[in-house]
Amino acid sequence: MSSILPGKRILLVIGGGIAAYKGLELIRRLRERGADVRAILTKAGEAFVTPLSVSALTGDKVYTDLFSLTDEAEMGHIEMSRDADLLVVAPATADLLAKMAQGVANDLASTTLLATDKKVLVAPAMNVRMWLHPATQRNIAQLKQDGVAFVGPNDGEMACGEYGPGRLSEPLEIVAAIERALAGPTFIPLPVSVRLDTPLLPALPLAGKHVLVTAGPTHEPIDPVRYIANRSSGKQGYAIAAAALAAGARVTLVSGPVALLAPPGVKLVPVETAREMLEAVEEALPADIAIFSAAVADWRVADAGAQKIKKGEAGTPSFSLVENPDILATIAHDAARRPSLVVGFAAETEHVVEHAKAKLARKGCDLIIANDVSPESGVMGGDRNRVHLVSARGVETWPDMDKDAVARALVAHIAKLAGA
Ligand code: CTP
Repeated sequence: MSSILPGKRILLVIGGGIAAYKGLELIRRLRERGADVRAILTKAGEAFVTPLSVSALTGDKVYTDLFSLTDEAEMGHIEMSRDADLLVVAPATADLLAKMAQGVANDLASTTLLATDKKVLVAPAMNVRMWLHPATQRNIAQLKQDGVAFVGPNDGEMACGEYGPGRLSEPLEIVAAIERALAGPTFIPLPVSVRLDTPLLPALPLAGKHVLVTAGPTHEPIDPVRYIANRSSGKQGYAIAAAALAAGARVTLVSGPVALLAPPGVKLVPVETAREMLEAVEEALPADIAIFSAAVADWRVADAGAQKIKKGEAGTPSFSLVENPDILATIAHDAARRPSLVVGFAAETEHVVEHAKAKLARKGCDLIIANDVSPESGVMGGDRNRVHLVSARGVETWPDMDKDAVARALVAHIAKLAGA
C-alpha cells in the first residue's frame, strides 16, 4: 500500500523527557517517507535534544521561542499551525497534556496547539505514576472528548527503573498513527452549541456499569464470643470500590468486619461469615464486573456452640472444620449469573505466580491479582501492595505502590478489559 505521507506537512512538537531523542528518529522516518517536517522544541525539550540536531534533521529552522520577532515576522504561530496537515506532539509530557486540556497558552508549543484548526495526534511519555495519576487520566479523557488522537504509551521498563505504561511509542508506531490520522477525517472542532449537550466532566470509563466488590476478612464463629479470622484489613478492596465509584460505576461493596468507612456513594452490605458473604453477593447480582478481593475463611467450625464454651467443662475443646463455599468459584462457574468480567485475588506466601495461574483455571475467573502476603511483605494490613496480573494472556507485574494507586490502576485496566 502506498504511503499517504509524500508531500504532507507535519508540525511536530517535541516536549521534554528522556524520550525526546525518539522525536529525532521520528523526523528521519517521516522525511524518508516524503513528508515535510517542521518542528517546535519546547524549553523542556531543549534540555534533552539540541535545536541544532532538530533543525539538521528537518532541514528547516527550529522554532523554540514564542516571542522571537524573527519567527513571528517570517511565520506567526497561527500560520504555522494552519499551514500543517497534522500536528504531532511527541513526546507529550504530563505538563503538555495538562496545558492542552486546560487551553493554557504560555509558550510557542501550547499557543500553537490552541490556535490550530487541524487534527492533533499526541504520543505521551512519562513516568508510570504520572500516567496513572487521576489528574493525567482526566486530562486525557478531556482531550479525547476534544477530538485529539492518541498513540501509546506502551508498557515496559522505564528510564526511571519502574515498569508499566508510560513509554513513548516507537517511531514507526507513531508513523503508522500519523498515516491513520491523515487518512481519517480532518478535525473540525465542534461548535459550542453542540458541546454544551455533552458532559463537561471527562468521560467516566465505568459509567452505567454495576461493579460488585467483596472485601475484608470473614469471621467464622466458634461460639457467640469467639471466632476464626485472618489479618485482612479490607484496605485494598475498599480502595477498589472507591476507584470504581470515581470511574463512574454503581458500586456494591460486600464487606466482612473491618475498621474502615465505606466510601460515600458506595452501597455497603456488611456481613460476618463466608456463607453470609455468598448470600449477599448473590443478592447483589446482576453485575457487569465482580472483583473478589475478600480474604474469605476457607473453613468454619462444623457445630459452632450456641453458648459460650466454658473452660474446664469438657477439657480442652477440639473442633472439626468444614469447608466454606467458594464465593468466587460459585459465581464464576454459574453461566446464568456470571458477570462478564470476574476478577479474583490470590493471596500467597510462596510460589505466588504459579499458584495464581492454577487458581485462575480452577476458579474460572478472567483475571487474578496475585500478591505476596508473607509476613515479610507487610501487605496484609499494610498500606502498600505489589501485584502480579495473571490472565490467559500472560503475567504482568506492577511496581510496589500504595493500595490506592493499585486500585486506580486496576480499575483503569479492568475498564479497558470490559471494553468500557
Ligand atoms: N475466595 C472466595 N471464597 C472462598 C475462598 C476464596 O471467594 N471461600 C476468593 C477470594 O476472594 C480470592 C480468591 O478466591 O479472590 C482466592 O482466594 P485465596 O484465599 O487466595 O484462595 P483459596 O481459595 O483459599 O485457595 P488456597 O487455599 O489454595 O490458597
